[in-house]
Amino acid sequence: MHKFINFFNMLNFVKAGIITDKYGNEFPTKELELATDEAMNIINMYPMIFPHLYKQGFKLRKYFEKGSVILQDGVVLTFGRYKSNGRLSRNATTYKKNGDFILHQIATNDTVKGAAKGVLDGFVEHCKSQHAENLFLTVREHNDEAVRFYNRYGFVKDSEIFWTSKKDGIIKGIVYRLRLVADKNIETVCI
Ligand SMILES: CC(C)(COP(=O)(O)OP(=O)(O)OC[C@H]1O[C@@H](n2cnc3c(N)ncnc32)[C@H](O)[C@@H]1OP(=O)(O)O)[C@@H](O)C(=O)NCCC(=O)NCCS
Repeated sequence: MHKFINFFNMLNFVKAGIITDKYGNEFPTKELELATDEAMNIINMYPMIFPHLYKQGFKLRKYFEKGSVILQDGVVLTFGRYKSNGRLSRNATTYKKNGDFILHQIATNDTVKGAAKGVLDGFVEHCKSQHAENLFLTVREHNDEAVRFYNRYGFVKDSEIFWTSKKDGIIKGIVYRLRLVADKNIETVCI
């Protein structure tokens, strides 16, 4: 089976234009299709968690083309990077900064134990290497497994958020933040 290792590397190859197969066919396109299928299969394992993706005609391939996906060890992670300061979304009370990252989706097919943490580690390193201050994500508050995973990882609840859906009404969610830079300590000097 096709194994996709690390899309950051892949994208660099694509950008450099050095991937061709031995017949000179468009190897990146084929790779993109295989990778998109593989990632979509993982997302499709969780229709209850990602119902909105289907309604929106999930543009997973676009994420690949932008280099905003990691697909590794049966884990798919999609992300974005903010280009302005302001609210995280219209009804959010959390504010992001230009250059902060957002993790959109993460899902595992459970073939490699601990793979989600491993992929997240790699992504966090990437965010730090880009000198970002914060990594944000939002999650439905009833998604116990994901909430446990983020808490254990060190994400801190920043605020509450809600989404409205015709089917489910108001859905409550949590905005999580991971600080990527060390906060300056304010030293108190006692005389
Ligand atoms: C959120 C999600 C990706 C977290 O994945 P996960 O499998 O819990 O996380 P990991 O891959 O890091 O695995 C953790 C488990 O591996 C174990 N583990 C971690 N590192 C390990 C290692 N090196 N060796 C052996 N085991 C290890 C942990 O103890 C833990 O086991 P436990 O669950 O029995 O306590 C997963 O629950 C998922 O795909 N959920 C559905 C989609 C979803 O809700 N996404 C979030 C909303 S956007």
